[in-house]
Amino acid sequence: EKAKLIVLTKDSNLTKAKKFKVKYLKDQIGERVKAFGWVHRIRKQSNKLMFVIVRDGTGFVQTVLAGDLALTYDAQVLHVETCVKIYGKIVEDERAVGGIELQADYWKVVGQTDTRYESIVSKESGVDNLLKNRHLVLRGENTSRIIKLRSTVLKCLRDHYFSRDYIEVNPPTLVQTQCEGGSTLFKLDYFGETAYLTQSSQLYLETLNSSYGDVFCIASSYRAEKSKTRRHLTEFLQVEAECPFIKFEDLLTRIEDLVCDTVKRILESPMKEEALKMNPDLKVPERPFLRMNYTDAIEYCNKNKIYKDDKKNIFEFGDDITEKPEREMTDKIGKPIFLIKFPAVMKSFYMLRSKENELLTDSVDLLMPGVGEIVGGSMRENDLNKLLKRYEENGLKDKDYYWYTDQRRFGSAPHGGYGLGLGRFLCWAFNVRHIRDVVLYPRTLGRCFP
Ligand code: 4AD
Repeated sequence: EKAKLIVLTKDSNLTKAKKFKVKYLKDQIGERVKAFGWVHRIRKQSNKLMFVIVRDGTGFVQTVLAGDLALTYDAQVLHVETCVKIYGKIVEDERAVGGIELQADYWKVVGQTDTRYESIVSKESGVDNLLKNRHLVLRGENTSRIIKLRSTVLKCLRDHYFSRDYIEVNPPTLVQTQCEGGSTLFKLDYFGETAYLTQSSQLYLETLNSSYGDVFCIASSYRAEKSKTRRHLTEFLQVEAECPFIKFEDLLTRIEDLVCDTVKRILESPMKEEALKMNPDLKVPERPFLRMNYTDAIEYCNKNKIYKDDKKNIFEFGDDITEKPEREMTDKIGKPIFLIKFPAVMKSFYMLRSKENELLTDSVDLLMPGVGEIVGGSMRENDLNKLLKRYEENGLKDKDYYWYTDQRRFGSAPHGGYGLGLGRFLCWAFNVRHIRDVVLYPRTLGRCFP
């Protein structure tokens, strides 16, 4: 009852408070400031003393509400996720997060909160419930750390490419061609015509080598994946590059360079500590990566009791090494593996056949411990007639691909490229088990919300 009577007023005799983001409060020791944010944690020391951790996305600050400030009705019923405005002085305090404390002289609720927040996002909530409430889960400390690291990794990837003279481009994602087989295409009606959500930007990147040289793009790819695994999404960000005048071995070296240089940049970035919190063992992998032929991988699996399926069938030439056996093999070897030279029968139409054996392709998957495949790439067929033959073999209409085919008509050049799945890279680098935890709003089989 008594608490309700206390109403705070701003003391107009105090020096005017300047507004700062939480991250910059540490530079304002001794100054009076104004800060906005959400209540992250509350500790009640006594009836007249509360410690409130406030976050605004740039950081966390410990706020002290003392005396009357802790006695208002709003203070008595204060709940996490309330949006607040706080005025006060910044003082040094070794015990607080970031070494400073905001000693409030006035504060106000900006937006009240529904008090069910903690029960909705608690550890006991099932996976489905957490996914349904992803918009609230994203406010959590762990989840926001991953999303911030994702932003850092995107910067590091871009910096890598720019330092190597690549041009960034933005191909369309509404397309009328397929790149990775018809079974995973999302089809849509485009003003009466059939169109698809792109499976990969590769074919467009290939059209750009002649005008821009080495190119890269970071774009959404879509696959109607019918399987529920911990590394498949239906919408995912792919980091793709396409390079003219390289040989197969150069392609492998470029992928190594991308992975190693990006990790190096993460470890030199302001997010280094956060990265190491996620994965204390994160370090630049040793080069060169192990190269392993597809045929040797099959032999390795068969020798090491890694089976094709639950019925313990052994692998034969042409079999896909699916997620489970692939990961078993990668984990057993325990370091990055370039799995190379896949049989043509199991790969896409655009892949260049190997000189030494027409049944194989100059193709590569990069496998990482804990995750499995994070990169897929190849050299491309650059002979016009061979490409036309591949369309036919794959049941594709060459007229739909005229613009792609034209690259072989107007000064065809040897070239190759690859795509790195950003989510899978993050899972590997930061030790995250499930890919749905490294994206904002995961799209999976049966889930297109929130
Ligand atoms: O191996 P993929 O299918 O290769 C391509 O799409 C090529 N056209 C890329 C290129 O050469 N430009 O896919 C490349 C990578 C995979 O290694 C994987 O990391 C990721 O994209 N990826 C997926 N990530 C999440 N969910 C899915 N459903 C994915 N499918 C592929």
